[in-house]
Amino acid sequence: MQIHHTIASLRAARAIAGKVAFVPTMGNLHEGHITLMREAGEKADCVIVSIFVNRLQFGAGEDFDHYPRTLAADCEMLAAAGVKHVFAPDETELYPQPQRYHVDPAPAQVSILEGEFRPGHFRGVATVVLKLLNIVQPDYALFGKKDYQQLMVLSNMVRELALPVEVLAGDTVRADDGLALSSRNGYLSAAERARAPLLHQLLCRIRDAVRAGDHDLLKLETDALDALAAAGWQPDYIAVRRRADLQPPVHMDDALVVLAAAKLGQTRLIDNLEI
Ligand code: PAF
Repeated sequence: MQIHHTIASLRAARAIAGKVAFVPTMGNLHEGHITLMREAGEKADCVIVSIFVNRLQFGAGEDFDHYPRTLAADCEMLAAAGVKHVFAPDETELYPQPQRYHVDPAPAQVSILEGEFRPGHFRGVATVVLKLLNIVQPDYALFGKKDYQQLMVLSNMVRELALPVEVLAGDTVRADDGLALSSRNGYLSAAERARAPLLHQLLCRIRDAVRAGDHDLLKLETDALDALAAAGWQPDYIAVRRRADLQPPVHMDDALVVLAAAKLGQTRLIDNLEI
């Protein structure tokens, strides 16, 4: 496995790599990422992974400075998963000057859910992902469904800007107790980690109720928010939305997803379930 720190070196390797599947990450990899790498390996001759903690997508007071940077351990996992190339630029390589050109996703898609609580987040994500796609020029790009809104924003960006890449979605990988794997789980204390599966349990409860014909979404959402608050969480949202555009459903036969974000102690967790 080769580790590239410059755009020039990555491009030279990509030029002779055949069909490429690309998985952008911010590192601190876990089994969820590695599952994406394996899926990528099934699609293409060569898997390229980027590891870059992207300042543009963090808001003031978020965890950019403390985001875990674990390049050596990440590279060991990637080599074992059969990844051929890692692109790990430092900030001066990717942003040699402050970024002045940005991708502004459609406001209707980024003023809701995560976008409401993390203004500017998806602009930062879309900008770095467009830049990474331009550098890597992959045939496929893989993103996890755990970041459901991110997947939607990036799929739309690729379609609306006619980028020559196919976006593939990877299912969320969960711990045995249901907690969605996330780099941010590492912030939880042992006591918080034991309480963390509640978020997934409440999403399952809503999914099962809707599937069983309960269409009182407001009550289902409010009950779950109350349950989180009663258990000492600070919920941001729990919402049943249309999968296609994450807007509130008009018809209950729309394909739906329930999404949630809540803080447990200092750690903000997100999760979702397709219904
Ligand atoms: O999902 C992530 O880890 C990041 O948002 C991404 C897509 C790598 C862009 O920085």
